[in-house]
Amino acid sequence: MSKQDSATESKAILIVENASYEYRAVRKKLISRAVRQSALGNASMTISSGDAIGIVGSSGAGKTTFARILSGQLVPSSGVVSYLGTDLQQMSNENELGFRRGVQYVFQNPRASFDPRLKLGDSLLEPLKSLKILGNHQNIIDQTLIKVGLDISMIDRFSHELSGGQLQRMAIARALVVKPKVLIADEPSSSLDVSVRAQILNLFKDLTDDEDMALILIAHDLAAVAYTTKQIVVFSAGGIVEQGSVSEVLVAPKHKATADLIDASIGI
Ligand SMILES: Nc1ncnc2c1ncn2[C@@H]1O[C@H](COP(=O)(O)OP(=O)(O)OP(=O)(O)O)[C@@H](O)[C@H]1O
Ligand SMILES: [Mg+2]
Repeated sequence: MSKQDSATESKAILIVENASYEYRAVRKKLISRAVRQSALGNASMTISSGDAIGIVGSSGAGKTTFARILSGQLVPSSGVVSYLGTDLQQMSNENELGFRRGVQYVFQNPRASFDPRLKLGDSLLEPLKSLKILGNHQNIIDQTLIKVGLDISMIDRFSHELSGGQLQRMAIARALVVKPKVLIADEPSSSLDVSVRAQILNLFKDLTDDEDMALILIAHDLAAVAYTTKQIVVFSAGGIVEQGSVSEVLVAPKHKATADLIDASIGI
């Protein structure tokens, strides 16, 4: 989220310029016109190595839509997303492979993101193979499991044999095995029991020490994001309304949406 001066632009990984997105609403009648509903308008962000950015905002503010645009899952209706200087829409196959390695996503619900028929070791091997990562895959998997705080013997289990917290660690490991440059996590602790949420946030906080990777953490809860990340971006009604360092945003919020989020956090 660094300012776009020449010094920071050189280490910019992902740049989103004026991205907008409209979902096509389902037609009520066959003859009625398809309605387009704006979910995101003119959102811009520059993500550089070492950034740890928390995205917050109320439900429906456009956070997931923006994250899906960042990760290439959605193509913006207007605006440009570029990875290491190349527009995602103009990428060669080789550049696209680099992008798919470089930008990884952790979903809210780990149960829904694993194939229940696969042993977890095979689930971790899959991205290494499909994204053509070189090296000793077993070593990479073992090191990554240790990094996320899991026992390496867990690769022999199936997803239903892990707790929610363990499985979310496994999902984070699966994202990390390919050594991404950007890790995007969309509400990664909100489906978990309250007792393990803090542990997962602590793991993300540890990951922010990696200066070679940028972390984007999305949450409703401003306190969770403020604890974990270095910068905060506030979304409201489909747009970015405020951004700054954690202390800037918490101490002197400029937008009502930010003040409301602070009040909601204090009310917990
Ligand atoms: N698949 C879809 N089809 C139509 N509208 C959608 C779709 N997904 C999201 N929207 C709408 O787009 C807007 C932004 O949704 P989005 O999921 O990005 O919000 P969010 O900030 O992630 O919310 P939450 O905190 O509840 O996850 C909302 O008005 C939502 O209803
Ligand atoms: Mg969402």
